[in-house]
Amino acid sequence: MNRRFYITTPIYYVNDVPHIGHTYTTVVADVIARFHRMGGREVFFLTGTDEHGQHVERAAQAKGLKPIELADRMVERFRGLWRTFGISNNDFIRTTEERHRRGVEKLYQKIVAKGDIYKDAYKGWYCTSCESFFPEKQIVDGRCPDQGHKVEWTEEESYFFRLSRYQEPLLKHYAEHPDFVFPESRRNEVVSFVESGLRDLSISRSSFSWGIPLPGDPRHVFYVWFDALSNYITALGSGSDRKLYARFWPADMHLVGKDILRFHAVYWPAFLMSAGEPLPRRVVAHGWWLRDALKISKSRGGTVDPIPLVEAFGVDAVRYFLMRDMVFGLDSSYSDEAFIDRVNSDLANDLGNLISRTLKMIEDYCGGKIPKADPRFREDEPLKGAARDAWSAFGTDFENLDFSGGIGRVWDFVGMLNRFIVQNEPWKLAQDPGRRWAVESVLYAAAEGLRIVGILIAPVMPRAAAELWRRLGVHGDVSAASLEHFSWGELKPGRTIERGDALFPRIDKAAYLKGAESAKPPAGPPPSAPATAGAPAAPAGAAPPQAAAREAGAPPEIAIDEFARIDLRTARIISAERVQGADKLIRMTVDIGAETRTIVAGIATRYTPESLVGKTIVVVANLKPAKLRGVLSQGMLLAASDASGQPYILTTEEAVPPGWKVK
Ligand code: ME8
Repeated sequence: MNRRFYITTPIYYVNDVPHIGHTYTTVVADVIARFHRMGGREVFFLTGTDEHGQHVERAAQAKGLKPIELADRMVERFRGLWRTFGISNNDFIRTTEERHRRGVEKLYQKIVAKGDIYKDAYKGWYCTSCESFFPEKQIVDGRCPDQGHKVEWTEEESYFFRLSRYQEPLLKHYAEHPDFVFPESRRNEVVSFVESGLRDLSISRSSFSWGIPLPGDPRHVFYVWFDALSNYITALGSGSDRKLYARFWPADMHLVGKDILRFHAVYWPAFLMSAGEPLPRRVVAHGWWLRDALKISKSRGGTVDPIPLVEAFGVDAVRYFLMRDMVFGLDSSYSDEAFIDRVNSDLANDLGNLISRTLKMIEDYCGGKIPKADPRFREDEPLKGAARDAWSAFGTDFENLDFSGGIGRVWDFVGMLNRFIVQNEPWKLAQDPGRRWAVESVLYAAAEGLRIVGILIAPVMPRAAAELWRRLGVHGDVSAASLEHFSWGELKPGRTIERGDALFPRIDKAAYLKGAESAKPPAGPPPSAPATAGAPAAPAGAAPPQAAAREAGAPPEIAIDEFARIDLRTARIISAERVQGADKLIRMTVDIGAETRTIVAGIATRYTPESLVGKTIVVVANLKPAKLRGVLSQGMLLAASDASGQPYILTTEEAVPPGWKVK
């Protein structure tokens, strides 16, 4: 087996903010990357942003920005979202980077040297949204055949790539590599498309300038798809030292949505063939998330923003839903109902209850320590076999990209563990002191089953898996656990468990759908906004500050370790907006180093949202989240306040990166 694995997502356009569709592809790639890492492979996982092209240029103009200014802003939204989702990419490429330009030029020069480029005039229909040319016969009512966007008649001088030369070589490649395009239905579409004849492809544009200039003719910029597709090799240093390129190319998997399969399965391999470079091993296309039967997309409206879902239900619930509810390769409809039903039934009920009852009984009957299994106890034998079967079926399904099926295998095992507890009735056994060994054996088996469930869910829900292990008293990083080497009985008796709150709280569906506050799992008291630290300053010459503070009726003196429980961090404000219907509240997205958070604070009486963006502030990062006017605040900013209560936010004197500890 190839021990290295290189996986890519599409690089996303920066003309608008990411939505659930982009999140889906990136989460799937992350799950695959984590799965292969756990299988012992050296994984390189790439994602990034596609920043050139006419529609990015137009989107920037519409906002009164330079294209690079728009790109710089949007890129932070993508990066922040991926941090929030725990995406484990090894690199993030932007097509405006120098390393990318060098690589694109180099690829082009190889294609020129092969004699596959010529200059001509382009006349035809262009869809700016798809950044694609379409032949006349495919245009219906002035709209493109792929997604129904308006097309524009375009006439310009252009450099062409001799794509027609590659029709036969491509068909030969598909025939010799039946796995090259997956799933098979999509492969058949690609083959028919190529069989119907390939026309040479315009690979430069001269009517606008936001792109990489063509070497030798800077009046032209590269066609954005030539530029974008090259990212898969330029990120590996194809334009410079080529060390990573030698290590990881060809890619094992380009993961894409079905909308952009043609570019990846026809144009990209043709460019590579011409340049004499190896072809990727596989191009894998997934289906679309739909809403009301339409593709979820920024240009059609009807997008689903993943952030409110994360704020309300947590990252792992969203990751789980995306992986479980879409049968990979097919389209799937998103609805809040489907989301809540799935999370409640699988996470809150099946797995959540199993975790809660097991930990509670270990606390009640075993003094909060993992008990020992007694050799006299035999009822756990079927579980041992089932754990092995679950692992092997899960592994096969994940290898075959059947994520929903693979997760289903794990849930069959979870169901079996729940039945095992019910059938063995430890609560009854516990009443008989002579059967203590049996109670302990049942609970050991349940906890050991959960430890294994932790490994199996780690690629999909890395944080929940880590928390499950921690509560079971298992040492080590579950995401680094090897999928090949787990065996029944590794759970160490005697370790202290931690019961904790429900790992997956039940969602009140009716309340959530009504938008009511009570839909959220129980949260702590709302952070008083503005969140200010403290007592009035002591007058000069008065008692020591601590004493003065106490006299002023402030909270009592605390020890340093009590202070250390407060996780204060620097944070950079990425975006800010007023909370509708609340005069004082501002909702901010802040980067706290390892992730982005939403923080709501009552500072609108002194600050406008615009004045806050870019500021470095100090936040309490471990405050229990709370809802303010329907918005979940995941932390609290520090501010001083004057006698009238006007807030003065704390910033740092020097530029400090987000995520630094404040003490
Ligand atoms: O096409 N359902 O970028 P893009 C599922 N820059 N996936 C979806 C989706 C939906 N409703 N909507 C978007 C581009 N996606 C080019 C790519 S690669 C060299 C250049 C996902 O921002 C899906 O992966 O329009 C789709 O292929 C991609 O986002 C398109 O992102």
